[in-house]
Amino acid sequence: MARKSAAKASTAPERENPVAPALLAWYDRHARVLPWRSPPGKFADPYAVWLSEIMLQQTTVAAVGSYYRDFLARWPTVEALAAASIDDVMKRWAGLGYYSRARNLHACAGVVARDHGGCFPDTEEALRKLPGIGPYTAAAIAAIAFGKKATVIDGNVDRVVTRLFKIETPLPLSKPEIRACAETLTPEARAGDFAQAMMDLGATVCTPKRPSCNRCPLEAMCEARAAGIEETLPRRAPKKERPIRRGACFFVTRGDGAVLLRKRIAKGLLGGMMEVPTTPWEGEAQEDAAHLAHAPLKAKWKKRAGLVEHTFTHFHLMLDVFVAEASAKEAASADGIWIAPEDLADEALPSLMRKVVQHAMPDEGPLFHRK
Ligand code: ADE
Repeated sequence: MARKSAAKASTAPERENPVAPALLAWYDRHARVLPWRSPPGKFADPYAVWLSEIMLQQTTVAAVGSYYRDFLARWPTVEALAAASIDDVMKRWAGLGYYSRARNLHACAGVVARDHGGCFPDTEEALRKLPGIGPYTAAAIAAIAFGKKATVIDGNVDRVVTRLFKIETPLPLSKPEIRACAETLTPEARAGDFAQAMMDLGATVCTPKRPSCNRCPLEAMCEARAAGIEETLPRRAPKKERPIRRGACFFVTRGDGAVLLRKRIAKGLLGGMMEVPTTPWEGEAQEDAAHLAHAPLKAKWKKRAGLVEHTFTHFHLMLDVFVAEASAKEAASADGIWIAPEDLADEALPSLMRKVVQHAMPDEGPLFHRK
């Protein structure tokens, strides 16, 4: 998309920018059917849009579907979600990751139910005042649920716009330029459909590798395509390598088979979620004796072969897993909550801790069914 003509379009509305009509016509035929979507041309329920957009941050459409349906069935309105306990919300969120989203979700439901009579505000500015709603989510709700002219930019949109305007500055330095270009494209009418059309185009046609330009409704307007460099964009500044942290978990059962869990402190990484008791996670590998100083009780600990690994945004974690069977006396001394194995799947155990449990109980078969 030539920047000159985009700028011209914004000052000369009679020569309307060709991107929006072409993309909306494509969306009318090719919109993905997703559980939170209303058909093209119709506004969606703000509660459904908010819930899905929070779930979709940092998470794929495929991973979100079952969680979204479960939340909506359990808590069909924002008032119902506000009235739920935070522990129940965390349990139902377990496995989706980025748990501060769930805490903010519950807090936001409370504010909307209490201070806004159960109705989400309809402007980006007012939406951004709510817990957990940043620029992306505010724009998405304003556009998709209320039809407001708002420019919604996620990773897919970054890619589409970068190629359309042949932006060769690497991400994330190019973000302001991407926003400026994207804003020239957003139409007055159907801004919500336009936003979702950009996302769908990025997800299904303008893909990171081997984009299907011959199926793209914007091919003739794409500067990167014209220059034959579409697949090399967006450029990215080299990523810093993730540091490795190490630690150990302590999986202990007592006579009746119950497993010892603890609740993590509310703040910070995996805050408020349950865990298999663990050491601090540190940069250096530790001797077994150093790990065992953090065990939740005295018992005959045995180290399982292999490691549990999990990648967080800012580091990669490698955990040893120690297992033990506690005597009644040892079990009585433990600080934590004993959970029957058949109830583990109902606990707010994040994916990392589910991996630890499966590593400790390899003969049990899958304990945590994918929803
Ligand atoms: N990713 C985030 N929000 C989305 C939406 N509304 N449609 C498709 N993909 C999305």
